[in-house]
Amino acid sequence: VNEQVTISGWVNSRRDHGDVIFIDLRDAYGITQIVFDPKENIEAHKTAETIRNEYVLQIKGIVRLRPGVTENPKLFTGKIELLVKECIVLNTAETPPFEIDDMSKINEDVRLKYRYLDIRRKVMQKNLRLRSKVIKLMRDFFDGQGFVDVETPILTKSTPEGARDYLVPSRVNPGSFFALPQSPQIFKQLLMVAGLDKYYQIAKCFRDEDLRADRQPEFTQLDVEMSFVESEDIFCLFEQMLKIVFKEIDNIDLKVPFKRIAYSDAMSRYGSDKPDTRFSMELKDVSDIVKDCELKVFKQIIDEGGRVKAITAKGAACFSRSQIDGVTAKAQEWGAKGLAYFVLQEGKIQSPIQKFFKQDQLDEIVSTMEAEVGDIIFFCADKNDVICNVLGNLRLHLANLLKIIPEKSFELIWVVDFPLFNYNTQEKRWDSEHHPFTNFCKEDLDKFEKGDYGNIKSTSYDLVINGMEMASGSIRIHRQDIQKKIFDIIGLSKEEAEKRFGFLLEAFKYGAPPHGGIAIGIDRFLTLFTESDSIRDVIAFPKTQKAQCPMTQAPSDVDEKQLRDLHIRKAK
Ligand code: AMO
Ligand code: AMP
Repeated sequence: VNEQVTISGWVNSRRDHGDVIFIDLRDAYGITQIVFDPKENIEAHKTAETIRNEYVLQIKGIVRLRPGVTENPKLFTGKIELLVKECIVLNTAETPPFEIDDMSKINEDVRLKYRYLDIRRKVMQKNLRLRSKVIKLMRDFFDGQGFVDVETPILTKSTPEGARDYLVPSRVNPGSFFALPQSPQIFKQLLMVAGLDKYYQIAKCFRDEDLRADRQPEFTQLDVEMSFVESEDIFCLFEQMLKIVFKEIDNIDLKVPFKRIAYSDAMSRYGSDKPDTRFSMELKDVSDIVKDCELKVFKQIIDEGGRVKAITAKGAACFSRSQIDGVTAKAQEWGAKGLAYFVLQEGKIQSPIQKFFKQDQLDEIVSTMEAEVGDIIFFCADKNDVICNVLGNLRLHLANLLKIIPEKSFELIWVVDFPLFNYNTQEKRWDSEHHPFTNFCKEDLDKFEKGDYGNIKSTSYDLVINGMEMASGSIRIHRQDIQKKIFDIIGLSKEEAEKRFGFLLEAFKYGAPPHGGIAIGIDRFLTLFTESDSIRDVIAFPKTQKAQCPMTQAPSDVDEKQLRDLHIRKAK
């Protein structure tokens, strides 16, 4: 107060009170009220009359306390204002296509087209600053633990993570292409062969896949690899790192070690390999109770080797008929043939299928499902994978409808014991469940040698937070013979394996140490932390669902000459 200061920023709003003019000036640090009093400076007051929103100003003035009643407790600077001595208009601005505030609902395409204006909004400023802070905490942690930050190439060869590659044509090598890395996976393994011991990188990854709310074609991972480790070392390291991040960012004390759940338990109890364990509503198998009921669909599906599983939605009996129909329609979208239900009312069960069950069967279902008056039990009869998809999704849908997910709570769990392979029925061959560099559990060597591929457990693990797959990793194969055999099992011919991964196989000849690692999706992590609706809200310049950038109009046409230089001709 009473000091002369200079501040620069954008006009957030202007209020003309006839005698005095007030401007709320916004800069990266907040909003300050500026007072133009003609009695103090007639020139500046004249200038203020011409000023519009988003003009860029530099103000020299004296800080003074606002008179008591005009204090604004909602504003950080609400106790003071700046009385103008001098006002320089550094730049003018046209009326922006949307108001720069957090209140207006703005179409996302427009936000992305004018991203530089969108980022002027407080919420985006906050998200990007948080992103910077989280990344710094991660870097400091790994640096402190003696990890080496190594950049790996962007113009490279395909690194398979299950998506399509983005390709870049080589001008000097006609007909040849680089692939952008889907992750630094192979390079970080080679750094272990190179004796670097502990590597980390904030790495850009590129994947040409169908986009969803939690996926971008270009995203960022915190990528880690270490030599001479077991999965326990990696769990412990990541737990320590996340403990610091949660504490520093949100003052949350995470309990370590995180809970662990086997993949098969996650599937049978939650219908998902990324279970949201903030609420229970677990799947229960009622096949044995209903196998002798009179309902044909249930009997038939069980006879054909399917199951009947159910979940209990606590307090859902208040749903109207049309709400239940809505839930059924959702279940059908997820692949259900139908969705049977019991509404538990005082002294009776209301259900279109209740008549097909004997009283003791009804009683046993209700007790198995731990259901009470006021609840609904939903049943799905089908093959196990369909049930998992239907009830796994239904659980989440019902939890949202019933608002039973505790707010501001974080559940971090490790999902472990994934299968090494899953069978690709269409192509009649085994696929790697994770990537093909993942090792199997030592105990399963026997199964590996005998060819019992369906029952081999991998050394991979996922970190799941609130039902989102956040990080993924494994202990790797470091022996050439085993790596070759894995390629063979997943149907890569010797020639193909040599062509695509020959350099890795070659490297494994020269004393590759046992190694393993993990990568966490930074964009996803921030989406969760900021409770954003979309991953795009934590990325400065993201792509739309159609993998386009409305601002730069990328991807776009290039001229014929460029194509000719690249030895490329467009198909008509
Ligand atoms: P994975 O493919 O599981 O593993 O990726 C690790 C994490 O990266 C994030 N992620 C994505 N985020 C945004 N958009 C995408 N399209 C996208 N795809 C993945 C997720 C995911 O958990 N090389 C291995 C890691 C390892 O084995 O060390 C890998 O990339 O949060
Ligand atoms: P229906 O005999 O086809 O009229 O079905 C009787 C009831 O069972 C209806 O409420 C259906 O929604 C339900 N239903 C049908 N198929 C299934 C299924 N596969 N799983 C669960 N419920 C089902």
